[in-house]
Amino acid sequence: MKAAYYERSGTVLLAEVDEPVILRPTDAVVRVTTSAICGSDLTIVGGHMTPATGFTLGHEYVGVVTAVGEGVTKIKVGDRVAGSPASYCGACENCRRGLVALCSRGGIHGSGPSFGALDGGQAEAIRVPWAEQVLAVIPDSVPDETAVLLADVMMTGLTSVRATRLQPTDTLVVFGCGPIGLSAVHAARRLTAVDRIIAVDPVEHRLDVARSLGADEAVASVEEAEALVRPSRHDGADGVIDAAGAQASLDAAVRVAGQGARIAVPAIGHGPMTIDFRTLLFRSIDVWTGLGDVLLIDDLMEAAALGRIDPRPMISHHIGLDEVPSYYERMAARDPDIVKIVVSL
Ligand SMILES: NC(=O)c1ccc[n+]([C@@H]2O[C@H](COP(=O)([O-])OP(=O)(O)OC[C@H]3O[C@@H](n4cnc5c(N)ncnc54)[C@H](O)[C@@H]3O)[C@@H](O)[C@H]2O)c1
Ligand SMILES: [Zn+2]
Ligand SMILES: [Zn+2]
Repeated sequence: MKAAYYERSGTVLLAEVDEPVILRPTDAVVRVTTSAICGSDLTIVGGHMTPATGFTLGHEYVGVVTAVGEGVTKIKVGDRVAGSPASYCGACENCRRGLVALCSRGGIHGSGPSFGALDGGQAEAIRVPWAEQVLAVIPDSVPDETAVLLADVMMTGLTSVRATRLQPTDTLVVFGCGPIGLSAVHAARRLTAVDRIIAVDPVEHRLDVARSLGADEAVASVEEAEALVRPSRHDGADGVIDAAGAQASLDAAVRVAGQGARIAVPAIGHGPMTIDFRTLLFRSIDVWTGLGDVLLIDDLMEAAALGRIDPRPMISHHIGLDEVPSYYERMAARDPDIVKIVVSL
């Protein structure tokens, strides 16, 4: 079968790889109908997340189950499902602590040996370990391209929003209007009570998308964001999300955070980043970072089925699997037209 294969640093090829098969009783095989390219995939191909090469990429996938192991009873052949970026057993020490993305018997799909050596979803099919935990059956009213946005980017956006513990009178500032920041904006607007959402990104087109997904104001610089939030009763924003992942955006997040604010950092920096702990201390600011909470998928699926969320305005490109390698190159060159790429098979 065909797959987007990470051959060597910076190089993705469309390769012929082995068809996945059931290896363990808890596995399923899914014929992929829709996949996507994530900012994290670029972090991998840029060599910032793992030094390993030689694996199929992708951790966002939707498809139809074609085979299940004998231990899988809740998921059936023919089910239309969305997978989670992480596969997790649900029973190990970390899973029982709720840290399922750190499962000792699982990993993150399409991220190489140090993340569990799990197959990637930018392929015609994928083997999914722990299928019963990991696969969510998609309600009929939710299209594939919505479902593929729920399992990773909306899940990470909602996790970040929850980490900011917003109150109905609060102001939220989101730095970075890529798919993660846009998802945070949409989750905050549609699934959370919050007074005001301000999105920040230097790319004008992305600010338009942020407005369409629920931002009250969308501005190009930290200075403009600061001017908007400084007069607030807490001398700044109550919740801040850094979904850009640069030292400048982390500094900006601290700069706009008000007294008692909560900062969430879902972004994966391209190297170590520093934060001014004295400012945090004197302003009683909390900082959260971590992976998205994959257990939120059921809530998101229900919200999409009820029409409460629809993240599709962030999709800028629909492509085929054979176009994936060239789009990695365009994303690495920071093509400003690309926001979210959905791959149809
Ligand atoms: N924690 C998780 O589980 C998780 C999951 C998926 C992705 N991620 C990470 O989240 C981050 C965002 O992913 P994405 O796909 O949205 O990336 P993206 O590159 O599409 O978006 C980043 C955006 O930040 C903007 N930006 C850069 N510097 C800025 C600044 N100083 N102020 C404001 N905006 C600035 C860019 O213009 C861009 O629009 C990445 O680091 C990605 O690896 C984390
Ligand atoms: Zn991702
Ligand atoms: Zn586990």
